[in-house]
Amino acid sequence: MRKIILLLPICIYFNSCNSNNNYLNPALQVDKRVELLLKQMTLDEKIGQMCQYVGEAEKNNKSAALNEDEKVNYALATQEKAALIKQGKIGSFLKVPSYKEANYLQRQATQSRLKIPLLIATDAIHGHGLYEGYVTIYPTEIGIAASFDTSVARLIAQYTAIEMRATGNHWAFSPNIEISRDPRWGRFGETFGEDPYLVSAMGVAMIKGYQGNDFSNPNNVLACAKHFVAGGIPNNGMNGGPADISDRTLNEIFFPPFINAINAGVFTIMPAHNEINGMPCHAHKEYLTSLIRNKWNFNGFFISDWMDIERLNKTHKIAETPEKASQLAVLAGMDMHMHGPNFFDHIKTAVENGTIPMARIDDAVRKILKAKIQLGLFENRFVDSSKIDALLLCPTHRQYALESARRTITLLKNKQQILPLSKNIKSIFIGGPNANNQSLLGDWARIQPDSNITTVLEGIELQASSDTKINFAACNEDPYKISTQEITAATKLASKSEVAILVVGENSLRFSDNKTCGENLDRADIDLAGKQKQLVEAIVATGVPVILVLINGAPIASAKLFDTVAGIIEAWEPGMYGGHAIAEVLFGDYNPSGRLPVTIPRSTGQIQAFYNYKPSAFHRGRYKEESIKPLFDFGFGLSYTNFDYSNLKVKEKNSSNENVNISFDIKNTGIQSGNETVLIFIRDCYSSYTSPIKKLVGFKRVSLNPQQSQNIQFTIQNNDLAIFDANLKPIIEKGEFEIMIGIDKLKTTIIVE
Ligand code: GLC
Repeated sequence: MRKIILLLPICIYFNSCNSNNNYLNPALQVDKRVELLLKQMTLDEKIGQMCQYVGEAEKNNKSAALNEDEKVNYALATQEKAALIKQGKIGSFLKVPSYKEANYLQRQATQSRLKIPLLIATDAIHGHGLYEGYVTIYPTEIGIAASFDTSVARLIAQYTAIEMRATGNHWAFSPNIEISRDPRWGRFGETFGEDPYLVSAMGVAMIKGYQGNDFSNPNNVLACAKHFVAGGIPNNGMNGGPADISDRTLNEIFFPPFINAINAGVFTIMPAHNEINGMPCHAHKEYLTSLIRNKWNFNGFFISDWMDIERLNKTHKIAETPEKASQLAVLAGMDMHMHGPNFFDHIKTAVENGTIPMARIDDAVRKILKAKIQLGLFENRFVDSSKIDALLLCPTHRQYALESARRTITLLKNKQQILPLSKNIKSIFIGGPNANNQSLLGDWARIQPDSNITTVLEGIELQASSDTKINFAACNEDPYKISTQEITAATKLASKSEVAILVVGENSLRFSDNKTCGENLDRADIDLAGKQKQLVEAIVATGVPVILVLINGAPIASAKLFDTVAGIIEAWEPGMYGGHAIAEVLFGDYNPSGRLPVTIPRSTGQIQAFYNYKPSAFHRGRYKEESIKPLFDFGFGLSYTNFDYSNLKVKEKNSSNENVNISFDIKNTGIQSGNETVLIFIRDCYSSYTSPIKKLVGFKRVSLNPQQSQNIQFTIQNNDLAIFDANLKPIIEKGEFEIMIGIDKLKTTIIVE
């Protein structure tokens, strides 16, 4: 008898889960489950879904660096947050770097009335870098862009999502699809560079990698297109500084990556810290609601950025109180508050006094619930720790960390073909602050075990023959603290070597004491930082040929110094096996194929320098003290072989609403196999509003063996020929268009009737 009594509640529970009126029934349509759940929720439970808090472990890492406002958000003790979760007043967490904490938090949620699981988010932008355990760390975005290969972006996101879900994280605050035109900005390396077409392609690929088709697979996570908009071009180069950009330039340059991300199904968007044209992005109702949600049909939800709702009051001064700031943001379209207390009460008060309609709350909560249901969190909210080790740093991910690094490395200078180095070389000097450290990981990554990293020194030791003498001179990893003694010792050792490899640049490692770049660390000077120049000059003065290996996220401009060296490899931030990939390029075991996703200006004074400039930009010819020509152009990169382009043909275009089909031949005329990134540009030769001197409209990576040719067929999308008319509507005007292949490889013109 007792068994039947005991079984009864369980049967009722499970039976009710299968009923057509139960949001817990996985057989029901997602939207149906959302509505069934929403109508059961109290106002507190609804607003709770809009509240995100920071995890416990992050507090220990940041407690020393917290500002007063942030301290408020960390002040809540674990049991206080547990109580809020059980009351249904927290819907999400960020910075939960351990699976145990993730499981703990989810267990609290199962004790809430409706048992709604928590969404756990992290900045996993090139690997699950903030996880407390050891993970696979890939090249950062600027290097991914340099590969001009969208499969690199997609696979890095896909593999990162697997490691995230294995550890209880469901939402990546990535991709950063800002357009970067100012190398002073410390976060340059997080972006895919300066070109809207390339940034769009890489952003879409990453979103597909994270989300799959519809983030319903247990290895998918939510992606987050960020930051809307123009945070990469603050008028002072500083993170979060104001941006003031014409609507025309916003439509031509800064909006396309977000439009493409939304069309690719990105489910969350993060507004930018900055104000744009006088309105902070976090309170920009015209952008968040009228433009993004209504015109561009964004059907996901907005997440605020760190303290940016509070900054509407504290910094931007468009809200007299923190309460008004919260209400302004939600009324503008904000759906979730990134972190911390007070927001809940601000919004509850506003709903109760009618300032915020319940419909606005319901809209926000629907999207958040949809994400949780579609991710399968109701059915699969806990981490199975027995599976973690097989997934983190698995062989497939490790292999791809190396392969993706190879594709990002860009050869910028190779005087008298000093590269690749012969395996018979007798002695190599290696020095520089980044020669043997983890700076190659880039930002948004914790320090990993040295056994998981291949530094440049280790890579060269791996690749060089056993007869080659490796002369390594360590120096202070802080470029500003390299001592005279260290420079003297390095110079002495270099003078006894056949070639000197100097690994220099920046260090954006998030928890490093020697950080020189990265989030909230912007530069007033984009030359080589600290005493690195003196180090390079001293070694150049020995007469030993110098090869610079740059490890950096933001471009470095050191015109005079670059003139004095024999070779320059731009490795960006190549990730955990970056040293291995760099050594393969140095010895010719891998033929470099990276191309610059950005213009490298000649000096800080030339900022902003970008390739798609308007015709009048440089019609005066030169600056007083220097050439207008950048140090290196967008799309530039050398190979160990040569590619010959010929036979460009354009299939007749019968009307102005047809695409343009082109074909041309490309041949590897060298003796080494290689990958060529084919770039396709157009120019609207005469237009009612000024058009850039060229605009990227396509790229393709082509692998060719020596003497092998390939005919390339490419379709230029019709709408890529458009300009914006007086009302900022895209129009294709009749007239002459120039088609350019590569950097001065082939060109032709077409007439659009
Ligand atoms: C930071 C960044 C944002 C990041 C967030 C959470 O302020 O602007 O890109 O996702 O905080 O770490």
